[in-house]
Amino acid sequence: MGNEQQVITMALAKGRLAEKTFDLLEKMGLDCTGPRNPGRQLVIEDPASAMRYILVKPSDVATYVDHGVADLGVVGKDSLLEAGRPLYELLDLGFGACRLCVAGYPRGEEPSVSHATFRVATKYPNIARSYFSSQGRTIEIIELHGSVELGPVIGLSDVILDIVESGATLRANGLEVLEEVCPCSARLVCNRVSLKTKRERIRSLVDGLAEGLGSRA
Ligand code: PRP
Repeated sequence: MGNEQQVITMALAKGRLAEKTFDLLEKMGLDCTGPRNPGRQLVIEDPASAMRYILVKPSDVATYVDHGVADLGVVGKDSLLEAGRPLYELLDLGFGACRLCVAGYPRGEEPSVSHATFRVATKYPNIARSYFSSQGRTIEIIELHGSVELGPVIGLSDVILDIVESGATLRANGLEVLEEVCPCSARLVCNRVSLKTKRERIRSLVDGLAEGLGSRA
């Protein structure tokens, strides 16, 4: 009985990042049938591998891990930077690669605007505040929760600060990258206390995931 494994709770950003993470866990021999098909279930237990999964919005992954109700999390670097929580970043998983950028109309083609302050529409108000203030630029942040490209197109903002993956959304709306803020990709993050109390389990999961990444086709 003494060798029962400690259960690890993993918070995953719903969608492609979660699917890619399940690919890696399956390479390690874990059965991810349950979390791949959760239905309306919010907590998916896998007693056989002593794992528990919660599938949440990307912007909430860091919150669950920081509060310790999840030991590990998989989320994009963009969401992590925005959350600004004191988590350990254990692995760059490589997938979900994109760039955080300032984008808008090509220089010289900006429509004239009526507002006095330079406006930035974004899902990332904290990143935008710190990026522009580090350059001594005064801005007004317009916080949106999706379809951010609409900002400049409809005259709500001068530019956007958003993730760019293929660039297709920008192109389709006559916009382009003006400044690159930083590259982003999925990260494995860990609660600071869990890293001490579940050290061995976490280490073996991290080693397995890293090995899976190394052997990626
Ligand atoms: C993201 C992002 C951009 C788009 C970038 O939006 O906010 O709008 O993808 O991808 P692309 O460079 O390949 O076009 P998402 O699809 O998550 O939807 P949202 O606008 O509702 O947030």
